[in-house]
Amino acid sequence: MKLIDGKAVAAQIKQEIADEVAAIKEAGGKTPHLAAILIGHDGGSETYVAHKVKACNECGFKSTLIRMDEDTTEEQLLEMVDKLNKDEDVDGFIVQLPLPKHISEQKVIEAIDYRKDVDGFHPVNVGRMSIGLPCFVSATPAGIMELIKRYDIDTKGKHCVVLGRSNIVGKPVATLMSQKATPGNATVTICHSASANLKEMCLQADIIIAALGVPEFLKADMVKEGAVVIDVGTTRVPSETSKTGFRLCGDVKFDEVAPKCSYITPVPGGVGPMTICSLMKNTLLAGKKAIYS
Ligand code: GUN
Repeated sequence: MKLIDGKAVAAQIKQEIADEVAAIKEAGGKTPHLAAILIGHDGGSETYVAHKVKACNECGFKSTLIRMDEDTTEEQLLEMVDKLNKDEDVDGFIVQLPLPKHISEQKVIEAIDYRKDVDGFHPVNVGRMSIGLPCFVSATPAGIMELIKRYDIDTKGKHCVVLGRSNIVGKPVATLMSQKATPGNATVTICHSASANLKEMCLQADIIIAALGVPEFLKADMVKEGAVVIDVGTTRVPSETSKTGFRLCGDVKFDEVAPKCSYITPVPGGVGPMTICSLMKNTLLAGKKAIYS
């Protein structure tokens, strides 16, 4: 069994980005600028955004964090989105999800200029990704594909089971894994909460991407010997031994599943760090106007 070290790969990629940004600056080019809108004080969102700002610093980017109150109206948020769309210094921006219940996430996502949508959530980017055109690919699926690539894992003709059908992870990663590309070219099955024979599907899988958000859902008796397991779960569960009072728990029962795998990602330190570094990659592309002019 080989442990996929997302933390190490992410550090390497951030260094590659930082080197490129230093060269851009030296040549008199523009410093890439990422803005993030954070509404309210959700603990998870606070942590994620803090990590994104830190990663911007590591890459040599400019970053702007815009905090808005929990009771911000949809109209006020749409005004802020419009302001960032028009701000020529901002190359890309994100609105951290989830949003408070009174705001329509879809409306907000569609209000973002797709050319600045470094999260890759806008329907233009999702659509372009699904037909293989240059676009901003959302960060978690892009991070998963990058890990598979850097570990030289063979996906061609393999059976990949994706657990979960979210717009952010399940659907896009299933699309990328099925595309005629390397990595990709796999036979993909998407399983979800209504799937009848989920265990049988998993037992047929060469690659399992677990993205349901159910802690320790995937057990050893659902995994065939030699499978590749990618764990996207990041549920916060209470922990008495942690300083913060919680720990991150994946969708895979790691201790019993790992011995059966050829490769497996840990939680934390697997997909998580890659997600942030994919956002940095998209920001660099936005800064260079490499996808949309
Ligand atoms: N919430 C959880 N993951 C993400 C992400 O990738 N981007 C944004 N904007 N919000 C999130």
